[in-house]
Amino acid sequence: MSYLSGKNILLGVTGGIAAYKSAELVRRLREQDAVVRVVMTAGAMEFITPLTLQALSGHPVATDLLDPAAEAAMGHIELARWADAVLVAPATANFIARRVHGRGDDLLTAVCLASAAPQAVAPAMNRGMWEDPATRENIAVLEARGIRVFGPAEGSQACGDSGPGRLLEADELVEKLAGLFSTAELAGCRVLVTAGPTREALDPVRYISNRSSGKMGFAVAAAAAEAGAQVTMVAGPVALQTPERVERIDVVTAAEMQQAVLGQLDGTDIFIAAAAVADYRPQAVARQKLKKSAAHLTLELERNPDILATVAAREDAPFSVGFAAETESMEQNARQKLQAKLLDMIAANRVGEHLGFDADENALQVFWEGGSAELELARKSVLARQLIALVAERYHHKHNDDKVIKLHAKDPA
Ligand code: PMT
Repeated sequence: MSYLSGKNILLGVTGGIAAYKSAELVRRLREQDAVVRVVMTAGAMEFITPLTLQALSGHPVATDLLDPAAEAAMGHIELARWADAVLVAPATANFIARRVHGRGDDLLTAVCLASAAPQAVAPAMNRGMWEDPATRENIAVLEARGIRVFGPAEGSQACGDSGPGRLLEADELVEKLAGLFSTAELAGCRVLVTAGPTREALDPVRYISNRSSGKMGFAVAAAAAEAGAQVTMVAGPVALQTPERVERIDVVTAAEMQQAVLGQLDGTDIFIAAAAVADYRPQAVARQKLKKSAAHLTLELERNPDILATVAAREDAPFSVGFAAETESMEQNARQKLQAKLLDMIAANRVGEHLGFDADENALQVFWEGGSAELELARKSVLARQLIALVAERYHHKHNDDKVIKLHAKDPA
C-alpha cells in the first residue's frame, strides 16, 4: 500500500510548457489512491485547460482567489487546511520568486501561505533561468524554510537548450511526494497508542461514555507508522478504518484497555495515550435492563484505573505522552498532569463546543519539562504528523541523554 493512499494532495500548476505533464501526474497520484484537488494559476490555463484536470482529478479545479462562489464552497483557507501535502508542479521561476516573497495575490500563493501541510515544488524552466543567481538564491530560501525541491531533471528542453530545468517525470514526483509521508524519524521504534472512548456498562443495553470519535488517536497511530515505527493501537469502540501498517486491538471498557496496554508494553519505546478513557464506571452492572420506577435514580460510580499514569510510573516506563482534554486553564491543567502522571510530554487540547472531540480539525499546545510548542488549528492528520515529529525529537533527545548518563555512571573516575 502506498504512503499516498487516502492522502489529500493539493496540486498547484503554474504557467510553463511542462504544465501539460500535470495531467499525467494527476493520473499517477490517483492510481496511488490519493485524493487530488488542483489549483491553477492564470499562466497555467494558457497551456492546459482546467477541464482536463477536473476530469482527471474528479474535482472542480480552483483558479480564482476572489471568486465568491469558490470562496463560499472550498475557499482558499479550506483548501489549505484540507491538504495533507501541497505540491506545485511545474513550478516556474516566477512562482518560486513570488513564493519566496510571501506573495498571496493569487489563489495558489494564498493557499501555500495558509497551509500547515508539508510543501514541495518541482521546478521546470529554461536552464538559463534555473542557473540565474536570483533563482539559485530563491531555491536556497525555500529549502531553508523546509519546502522540498523535487528536481529539476537535466536533458533537452522545449526551447532547444539542453541542461537542468526539466520537470521530473510523473513517477519520480509521485515517489518523492510519498517520501514526505515516510520520514523514518521513528524507524526501529515500537509505538503503542490508545484511541477513542471507552464504554462502561450500566445494564445490558446502556453505558457511560464520551464523544471521542477516535480520529485524533487514529491519526497519531497513522503518523507514527509513516515515521517508520512499528505501531500497535488499542482502540475503544469507534467506526474508523485501521490505518495502514498499524496493528489494532479493539476493546470496550477502561479495564480491557488497561489489560491490552499492559499486555503490549514489553519492548514498547513510546506510549501515546490519546484515548478518552472513562474516569469512572458503575459500581455494579445490572444484569437486567434498569426499570424506570423511581422519579430519581442515583448511580454509584467507582474510579477506573489511570492507564497512562500506571504505565508512566513503571521502572521500565516507555517515553510516555499524554493528552489533556481541557475546557479551562489549559496550560496550568496540562502542566499539572505532566508532573502528576510523570509524563515526558503532554498535548493539551481545548474541548467542548465542537472542539477537540469528534471534529476533523484540532489545535494542540504541547508541553514537556523545559519546553513547549504550539500546533495551530489543522486537520488531525496534519497535526498528528507535527506531534509525531516533536515526539521523535524529544524521544531521541532523552535517549541520547540516557546514554550519556549511563556512560558517565560506568566511568570509574
Ligand atoms: O477522539 P477524537 O474525537 O478525535 O477526540 C480527540 C480527543 C479530544 C479525545 C483527544 O485529543 C484527547 O484529548 N484525548 C485525551 C482525553 C482525556 O481523557 O483527557 P484527560 O485530560 O481526561 O486525561 C489525561 C490523559 O490520561 C489522557 O492521555 C488519557 O488518555 C489518560 N487517561 C485518562 C484517564 C484514565 N483512566 N486513563 C488514562 O490513560
